[in-house]
Amino acid sequence: MSSSQDKPVLIVDGKRLDGRMPGDIRPAKIEANVLKNAAGSAYIEWGNNKILAAVYGPSEALPKHTSNPERAVIKCRYQMAPFSSLEEHGRSGPNRRSIEISKVIKEVFENVIITENFPGSEINIFIEVLQGDGGTRAAGVTAAAVAVATSGIPMTDLPYGVSIGKIGDLIVIDLNKIEDNYSDADVPIVISPRTGKILLLQMDGDMTREEINKGMEMAAKAGEAITKLQVDALKKQYIEISKKYKNEAPSFTPPAQK
Ligand code: CDP
Repeated sequence: MSSSQDKPVLIVDGKRLDGRMPGDIRPAKIEANVLKNAAGSAYIEWGNNKILAAVYGPSEALPKHTSNPERAVIKCRYQMAPFSSLEEHGRSGPNRRSIEISKVIKEVFENVIITENFPGSEINIFIEVLQGDGGTRAAGVTAAAVAVATSGIPMTDLPYGVSIGKIGDLIVIDLNKIEDNYSDADVPIVISPRTGKILLLQMDGDMTREEINKGMEMAAKAGEAITKLQVDALKKQYIEISKKYKNEAPSFTPPAQK
């Protein structure tokens, strides 16, 4: 969020510049299991965001001092590709923003992955933003949740992310980059839909309690559609796997009855 003297007009006749109503999310699609060498993976396109998520592990936690004999440790790296936006991302490795986003996403997955099942091991979650247009941490978590699910690592729920925010007095959800830049508030959230628990909430700008509640209601409604996208991507993957095995399975002729 930033304020500027020459703030662009973001709302025209109650609609946003891309034609959306305040509670609409951008068109999104998710594909599960897109990388052969990862334990689990997913690709998401959400508006102009294009993000790959990959999961490796569980494997022995290394270096040793990072391991926990009681449970798996989650490691997360969120990164924007050098070509992902007009801003410079190529020169140095992790920056303050990507370190922060990696940390908060790691905490999301610590709360849903059943880590006690894998003592002494580590689970690595990688989120690579190929193209960024606002809301990449929310979209990244949404894809990473599908990637973890495809890896078979058990979770208590399939979390999803979406941002809520404020443009003037109007409460909106799923802000794109220009809205994010010139909004009065941008609040990325991650929700565990089964329990309704909030797993991530960061706030840039100010919103009152009432405004947040209104945004949360809009997010929960949109969340049903996001969860459906995640679940459909997972189901599609299993249908494809079962088709593959059906075709490859040796034909079986039952022994003749005596
Ligand atoms: O992506 P998200 O909304 O979670 O994070 P943000 O820090 O609020 O950034 C908003 C958007 O600005 C990102 O999605 C990127 O498109 C862009 N951005 C960027 O390209 N480079 C940065 N160093 C920071 C932001």
